[in-house]
Amino acid sequence: MSWNNSTDSSPLLEHNADLTARNTLALPGRAARYATITAVDQLAAAEFGATPRFILGGGSNLVLTGDFDGLVLHMAIPGRHLLKEDADAWYVEAGAGEDWPGFVQWTLARGWPGLENLSLIPGTVGAAPIQNIGAYGLEVAERLHSLTAYDFATGCLVAFGADDCRFGYRDSIFKQEGWHRSGRFAITAVCFRLPKAWVASCRYGDLAAELAARGKAAPDPRDIADAVIALRRRKLPDPAEIPNAGSFFHNPVVDAATAARLAAAHPGLPCYPQADGWVKLAAGWLIEQAGWKGRRLGPIGMYEKQALVLVNHGGGDGPAVKRAMAAVQADVAARFGIDLVPEPVFL
Ligand code: EPU
Repeated sequence: MSWNNSTDSSPLLEHNADLTARNTLALPGRAARYATITAVDQLAAAEFGATPRFILGGGSNLVLTGDFDGLVLHMAIPGRHLLKEDADAWYVEAGAGEDWPGFVQWTLARGWPGLENLSLIPGTVGAAPIQNIGAYGLEVAERLHSLTAYDFATGCLVAFGADDCRFGYRDSIFKQEGWHRSGRFAITAVCFRLPKAWVASCRYGDLAAELAARGKAAPDPRDIADAVIALRRRKLPDPAEIPNAGSFFHNPVVDAATAARLAAAHPGLPCYPQADGWVKLAAGWLIEQAGWKGRRLGPIGMYEKQALVLVNHGGGDGPAVKRAMAAVQADVAARFGIDLVPEPVFL
């Protein structure tokens, strides 16, 4: 590894940087160039205009397929504050590099609830809108007010309102337009609108059961955060212990007729009707039924307690992930006729 001299305003550029510890699946790979961004004005540095470019947050939704012959910009812009307050809501802004779980805890400690269902999701604040993170009945889209992004094409900061982000299930304009993959925009800060008229969101089956088991008939935000954290610790592997990227596939959404046909052929199939008439199926259930829960192909497997989570048992690399992914997809397709779509970004 070698280091360039940097000016006062531009961060150090690292060459041939090892990314293994910078992705939560612990997949090996190197970036030709790598820099950590801690302030917005650093993004204007001439050397960061080059492509290919990839914007990295916490590396918790990333499959590194090998070496990357380009520039990785690790977004580490800090800061969190109450931007404004009106009669109806608190508006809280955080830098893209803030740790998401830490930010959620901080808002709760300040008495600004609304993000508690999204407790303990690994990653950064800046990455949260890209795939519209969601859990236990809440998506970040429901709390996002606006965000600021640096546009490498123009050298300008651009404001995106929530509607501009075109959020969908694990989806946003940043994925739809390929902007994330191409590194066109770097999200620098995100503003959340947290309504003062707080309403508990605890209808998600597992969460309701956990709150009932804890005797919380009228839970407060802290009770919900505690229950979500306990559920996640019980079901999902800690990337520090077993490398993983959370859910590896989207839950498939099918038309009502397909869902009815599958449910008749496969008793027990979980079906979640959506507002638009389509039906969401549980990919974890499909994968488990296809025999993949706790099963491995070489160093890569599907987690024994949650079949939707792909784990690296040690020594796995990008090609090994692709082999295991293809094997799971083939078995689910053969049994159910459903093509599972991976959730992480592939680099
Ligand atoms: N299921 C199985 N076997 C499994 C896993 C799940 O049968 O091995 C069944 C469960 O019994 C349940 C259904 O599948 O009936 C749904 O399972 P769960 O509640 O665990 O949620 P999920 O649909 O598998 C989604 C999100 C998670 C989020 C949880 C909780 C996606 C792709 N995943 O998982 O998000 O934490 O709901 O809200 O939507 C992530 O995106 O990385 C992530 C972890």
